[in-house]
Amino acid sequence: MPDTPQNPTREDRYGFSEWRMLPEPGWDQYWDRIYVPDETKRRMYNYARFTLSRRKAFSLVGLPVHGIALLRGKPGTGKSSLVKGLANKLAAELDEGELLFAEVNAHALPSQMLGDSQRNTVNLLERALPELAEKGHPVVVLIDEVDSIATDRDRASAGTDPVDVARATEAALQGLDHLAAAAPNMVIFATSNFPQAIDPAFLSRLDITFEIELPDVGTATDILQDALDEVGSDLDDDAVARAVEALAGASGRDVRKLVFEALVSRDSSIPVDAALQEKELWAAIDARAQLTGGGR
Ligand SMILES: Nc1ncnc2c1ncn2[C@@H]1O[C@H](COP(=O)(O)OP(=O)(O)OP(=O)(O)O)[C@@H](O)[C@H]1O
Ligand SMILES: [Mg+2]
Repeated sequence: MPDTPQNPTREDRYGFSEWRMLPEPGWDQYWDRIYVPDETKRRMYNYARFTLSRRKAFSLVGLPVHGIALLRGKPGTGKSSLVKGLANKLAAELDEGELLFAEVNAHALPSQMLGDSQRNTVNLLERALPELAEKGHPVVVLIDEVDSIATDRDRASAGTDPVDVARATEAALQGLDHLAAAAPNMVIFATSNFPQAIDPAFLSRLDITFEIELPDVGTATDILQDALDEVGSDLDDDAVARAVEALAGASGRDVRKLVFEALVSRDSSIPVDAALQEKELWAAIDARAQLTGGGR
């Protein structure tokens, strides 16, 4: 969602994250219109609320909560959106004040220059993020594609210097330990659709992992209906159910993009604001099936 003039995003001074204050009008959609099982949302919410408000009261020995969780799942299943939505929901529930939400650009950290990846990781975890935490607000951090920061030291890919990868990963582990102690008002949500590439020592520091599955039939129905409501359509419940049946294996992003695909593929003589027709949706479903090998 774009910046609003009153609420711009800002960069930390190392350039590794963009942050803004929440709540933000419109961001409730990232929670309310992302459909995952209620239990997933409940656990995410409880985890973040506990971590932000109660963690300070416990010793790190008694309850080793690092303030970091992982969302794992296929592309387009709503992971990044849910973190934004959760941050906004928590912000809206604060009695007073605001919540700081920071998005880390994980791709800015690894570097071809020897030693730079390690330095960048230290700057992010031991300087940039603690400085955000020092502003005194509750902080929610989203680190997308964390596998590029906490790369499994045994699986460093060809072309990268394994010693450099190992040093950067070790810096990430040390940085997380530092943050856990220095920033009890911060909770980090990392996402990955390639968790096999994450270092085991990083995985063992996670407080909790949320599996974000591809939508089941009920969830896909909610997503398709929501997307159709957005644009207006002539489909009744039975028509929606038939379409969902043909969309097995599609992510939430796929389902919504399909509706868009149907709109842009329609006959140009149809007014641009006319409701989407069932046959237009089916044309898009059939075109998708040609690509994925599924369909009617
Ligand atoms: N579970 C869902 N319910 C409703 N819409 C969804 C869902 N998942 C994805 N979408 C749609 O897809 C868009 C992209 O989702 P998002 O970027 O959060 O997915 P992601 O899991 O982070 O993907 P990636 O792994 O590729 O980063 C959302 O803005 C929304 O329009
Ligand atoms: Mg994402």
